[in-house]
Amino acid sequence: MNLHGRNFLKLKDFTPEEITYLVNLGIEFKQKKKQGIPHDELKGKNIALIFEKTSTRTRCSFEVAAHDLGMHVTYLDPSGSQIGKKESIKDTARVLGRMYDGIEYRGFGQEIVEELAEYAGVPVWNGLTNEFHPTQMIADMMTIQEKFGHLKGLKLVYLGDARYNMGNSLMVTCAKLGMDFVACTNKNYFPDPELVSYCQEIAKETGASVTLTENADQGTKEADVIYTDVWVSMGEPDEVWESRIRELTPYQVNEKIMANAKSTAVFMHCLPAFHDLETTIGKQIHEKFGLTEMEVTDQVFESSQSVVFDEAENRMHSIKAIMYATLK
Ligand code: CP
Ligand code: NVA
Repeated sequence: MNLHGRNFLKLKDFTPEEITYLVNLGIEFKQKKKQGIPHDELKGKNIALIFEKTSTRTRCSFEVAAHDLGMHVTYLDPSGSQIGKKESIKDTARVLGRMYDGIEYRGFGQEIVEELAEYAGVPVWNGLTNEFHPTQMIADMMTIQEKFGHLKGLKLVYLGDARYNMGNSLMVTCAKLGMDFVACTNKNYFPDPELVSYCQEIAKETGASVTLTENADQGTKEADVIYTDVWVSMGEPDEVWESRIRELTPYQVNEKIMANAKSTAVFMHCLPAFHDLETTIGKQIHEKFGLTEMEVTDQVFESSQSVVFDEAENRMHSIKAIMYATLK
């Protein structure tokens, strides 16, 4: 498998074999790290991390993974560079491409990261856009594979805003890997019909299935993986909270939903999650709307079925795999 020089912008650009290769490479790097086997095979290389939105996991994963691989990192925070304000993406790409061996970008529209990749001349990795979150997918599939030993044939149910980066990415990934994907949510939050058709076509070849349903009981029945994400994503206006709470509360992941899934089911969330009142936004929402937890109850989040911290750890191992495969 040779992914040298490739960008990593969305899973649509990758074959099932390439995705599986990255998942397995992530597992290999995890074993190396646990066994203390050095793997600084990209010594001497430099990468730039552009964050136009905030991050804990993605930034830390890129930094730790780069250091373990022997690389140096420059972090450009959401306000500290000329990007967008004084310099276009096209010009930024041509500048950074002269200095760095690879560039990570987290920001708004998918077209921005696509443009960056077009002009950079070095691999560009998408660290989250409004539409897709591809590095998260490799970590998530690693986590599912670790728990179940395989991916094909498993039923993954996504509850919440299925039109955004996480719902879109999971639907594409499941379709490519022969899994049964269910978007279980209010119909206003169903993914884009064009992307659904694309995934249904792929599903015909891989043995996957794509289902959209508003029925939480039917949708989550016999699920292997119950997945959710925040109801309001980074960059969205505060005004949308009210309608999100109203329309998505029936799809909150709680004990009833978990009981409906298989007894072996796992709970997943890309994080950060609103499962208690320990955050500023959590407290504000509590004051305004009276909710003590949102997309997932604290009970499920803290339960033995929850694999969210394995998932978070796997971000680092999988991002290492993505950088290694595209730079080595
Ligand atoms: N899951 C995820 O991307 O987390 P961060 O926003 O903290 O990077
Ligand atoms: N949908 C969330 C994902 C965070 C990792 C967001 O875009 O804010």
